[in-house]
Amino acid sequence: MKKDLNDFDFLSERLAVKGQAYIDGRLSSGKKESDAGQTQQAFSVKWEALKEESDNDQETWKIFQKDWYLKLYGFETEDSLRDFLSDKPLIIDAGCGKGYKAAWFAKLSPDSIVLGIDISTSVIEASRRYSEIGNLYFIQSDIAQMPLVDESVDFISCDQVFHHTPNPPSTLAEFRRLLKHEMFLCNYVYAKKALPRELLDEHFRTAVHGLKEDELWSLSDKLTDLGRTLSELNIEVDIPEIKELGIKGGKQDLQRFIYWNFIKCFWNEELGREASVSNNFDWYAPSIAYRYNLNEFITMSETAGFEQVYIHQEEACHAGLFKAI
Ligand SMILES: C[S@@+](CC[C@H](N)C(=O)[O-])C[C@H]1O[C@@H](n2cnc3c(N)ncnc32)[C@H](O)[C@@H]1O
Repeated sequence: MKKDLNDFDFLSERLAVKGQAYIDGRLSSGKKESDAGQTQQAFSVKWEALKEESDNDQETWKIFQKDWYLKLYGFETEDSLRDFLSDKPLIIDAGCGKGYKAAWFAKLSPDSIVLGIDISTSVIEASRRYSEIGNLYFIQSDIAQMPLVDESVDFISCDQVFHHTPNPPSTLAEFRRLLKHEMFLCNYVYAKKALPRELLDEHFRTAVHGLKEDELWSLSDKLTDLGRTLSELNIEVDIPEIKELGIKGGKQDLQRFIYWNFIKCFWNEELGREASVSNNFDWYAPSIAYRYNLNEFITMSETAGFEQVYIHQEEACHAGLFKAI
């Protein structure tokens, strides 16, 4: 039988008793910071909308995400990740969503305890879906205030989440508080884009407060159509570099040019419509989505007491494996 999570000594009694966490079946009402509350609401709605059979839950999506994960954090193969996890007794998937990565870690490393933590109600579904995995637990909590004791954790994976937290430096301080000395963090942030795109994104972040969830889904739907239409044109344009606006020069696909420089209108044929709409929704729904350049990302991590082990850069993001020092 699965051990009761409350019986583990890494759980901070103080926070659990205060009732901030949802622990495998028991939901208690925690007071949340209002900004984090908006994120909680936005993602809860998103996960509710994505039913079990949706594109996001399909194997192709998970395979794509897992392969990308290995690339983002410098693991050559799944076996390298397995080796890395195997000597980490306590692993956290911070911002686990519906928990498929937490489940992946738990299966790769059966002797570890894996905690999937998320502020949204996704953990309820995750907890149900993966109930048969004996070393995997889910907690509903803000990752900037986790119900765990100091220096109890061996690995925190925070994939595509950190930039949604209201105060990223305090979230990093929380990660540092929890990690044992010389233990590891995988972290990911959105990259800053060209100026017109940044300004428009800022506009959305403010405007979104006034939109109802279904209006935002509908907007995401239209932006997906825009992305698909532009992409199907299959037009390549020769763009002059405009340094002042951060616009890169050279031959570019029209949809990509508009996407990177003006407006997020995601479309990916292989992933399918629902996953594409969800990708657009993800971008606009949370009112907090900080963006960083590489230097800002590294400096912030170093200031919080982390040393970089591996860094990966893409147009959309920066990601890295860090060691707590
Ligand atoms: C884009 S999803 C990523 C999910 C998962 N990490 C993955 O890679 O598929 C972002 C997740 O972060 C969660 N999240 C955002 N802010 C959070 C916070 N302050 N505390 C805990 N979870 C948070 C959201 O609820 C959502 O499930």
